[in-house]
Amino acid sequence: MNDMILVTGATGAFGRPLVELLTAQGAKVRAVTRSAGPVRLPAGVEVVEGDPARPDTLAHHLDGVTAVFLHPRAIGDGAPGLLARAADRGARRVVALSAMNADDPLDEQPSRFRGDRNKEAEAAAVDSGLEWTSLRAASFAGNALQAWAPQIRAGDVVRYVHAGFQEVPIDERDLIEVAAKALLGEHPGEHPGGHPGGHPGGHSGGHPGGRLGGRLELTGPESLTHAAMVAVIGEAIGRPLRFEEIPPEAAERHLVAGGLPEPFVHALLARYARYAARPQHPVTGDAAAALGRPPRTFATWATTHAPAFHHP
Ligand SMILES: NC(=O)c1ccc[n+]([C@@H]2O[C@H](COP(=O)([O-])OP(=O)(O)OC[C@H]3O[C@@H](n4cnc5c(N)ncnc54)[C@H](OP(=O)(O)O)[C@@H]3O)[C@@H](O)[C@H]2O)c1
Repeated sequence: MNDMILVTGATGAFGRPLVELLTAQGAKVRAVTRSAGPVRLPAGVEVVEGDPARPDTLAHHLDGVTAVFLHPRAIGDGAPGLLARAADRGARRVVALSAMNADDPLDEQPSRFRGDRNKEAEAAAVDSGLEWTSLRAASFAGNALQAWAPQIRAGDVVRYVHAGFQEVPIDERDLIEVAAKALLGEHPGEHPGGHPGGHPGGHSGGHPGGRLGGRLELTGPESLTHAAMVAVIGEAIGRPLRFEEIPPEAAERHLVAGGLPEPFVHALLARYARYAARPQHPVTGDAAAALGRPPRTFATWATTHAPAFHHP
């Protein structure tokens, strides 16, 4: 395999397991970090220091790069500049992590208040002239850890807003698998070393040879209310959990005390209110088509992460 994949955001919650999966599949990875200190990544990964938001800092690290992974938090406003430089040096392919809500008004996208640039990452990929894939991800299943794990460790009641708010949560492992497939130029449903499977259910980017690509709307296999998600976690940990609705002001205090930035929390609660009575997104078939199997259920995610919810 001659791929050399530049991974931005490589030390984070998404990037690190992506680097591990790519490496395990035999790809060469150049991992970008702003940190001058040691970062624990698999042996053989080339770690380079730079800030993707300032593409000049990576200018000397683009030789031999065939594919670029754009992380929407790491990339800031640097995506067009980074991709132009990478294309000049011979890169062929780009995969952007983005979000299902990327087309919503910007001030209605909570993650923008944490610096995420899902819309811009996708737009830069589309405009790059490279083969592109945009992973329009639904809410990560792992958001449940941040929102509810401290309460569940402490007791059997989850106090939160809008029991009926619905998500189509996707297990991050599935997203990471799709990202790796797209970076490696595989076909939909293909397994490493295998043969092409079905066709992507999403909006194709018209990639040569029918490779995985275009805008993929990646959801989990089911739409669940927050109350149902809490019940699923209860089943996974063997404790019946109860969802108790609290007013948004109380939830806001709790989330901000837990370390989340206030503007982000404001936007998140506004989103909950906006979709309290209607689903945000439908379940799509894109993840199953890309993976060649059904995406993992929230119950599977909860079972895997059960230790994080147990009493200390
Ligand atoms: N959670 C969801 O439901 C959801 C849904 C759709 C899309 N997404 C997207 O998924 C991404 C998830 O990110 P993650 O969990 O991997 O984040 P993370 O753990 O915070 O990692 C972000 C990485 O980016 C690098 N970075 C560079 N500049 C940064 C900056 N200014 N601020 C923070 N980090 C910076 C950091 O690496 P160094 O410090 O080593 O440079 C860090 O390792 C988000 O961008 C979000 O938009 C999330």
